[in-house]
Amino acid sequence: MRLDKFISKATELSRKDAKKILHASEVTVNDAVVKDSSFQIDELNDEVMWAGEPLSVATGNRYILLYKPAGFECTLKPKEYPIVTELIAVPEVASLRIAGRLDVDTTGALLLSDDGGWLHRVTSPKHHKAKVYQLTLADPMDEAEQTNAIAQIANGILLEGEENKTKPAELTFIDPTHAQLTLTEGKYHQVKRMMAYFGNKVTELHRSNIAELTLEGLEVGECRFLTAEEVASF
Ligand code: URA
Repeated sequence: MRLDKFISKATELSRKDAKKILHASEVTVNDAVVKDSSFQIDELNDEVMWAGEPLSVATGNRYILLYKPAGFECTLKPKEYPIVTELIAVPEVASLRIAGRLDVDTTGALLLSDDGGWLHRVTSPKHHKAKVYQLTLADPMDEAEQTNAIAQIANGILLEGEENKTKPAELTFIDPTHAQLTLTEGKYHQVKRMMAYFGNKVTELHRSNIAELTLEGLEVGECRFLTAEEVASF
């Protein structure tokens, strides 16, 4: 976001008045005076100060996309591993909740927010939001096994301990040990259990997409706020 827009949002000064305080050298970004009103602010990581006071636009709910690394837990009570919110540098991080958990060893796209209604929409199977996973299998699957798995997964399979079949999903193979699975629901350990149904084991799992959201522009462990348009798309 442009610096003059950021100041205007954070203070209710007009854009014109925001430019005035910038020209008067009253504003610092990460301890350096910035006079350029078109300077781009990283709202998550930059510290903007006016007359010694921090400015923030994080007044309403927060909606965050995190590129989860392996070795972090998606739980409020971590047992063995650090918790994903340790990767997110925003105020009151404890008020964030996770939409659709990933296992400790799974990497990829994870959404967090403090807006309960929105979190519900993101995770509810009623809303049919597709989640795309890339997986590596322990045992290669030959063509006949692949065809069988693709067809069964397209129809839905009954996982152990479940009353209902999985929702129709799309499995595609890249080679005998690498596949992509698109799901519209999120049962516990669903991808791993679906491949276990075929007697196989997932050795690596990555979530590249949640609906239209991808991890483009984020490094492992980085996060960003969603745009208003992205928030409204759920
Ligand atoms: N399915 C799994 O088995 N694990 C995940 O982390 C996500 C989906």
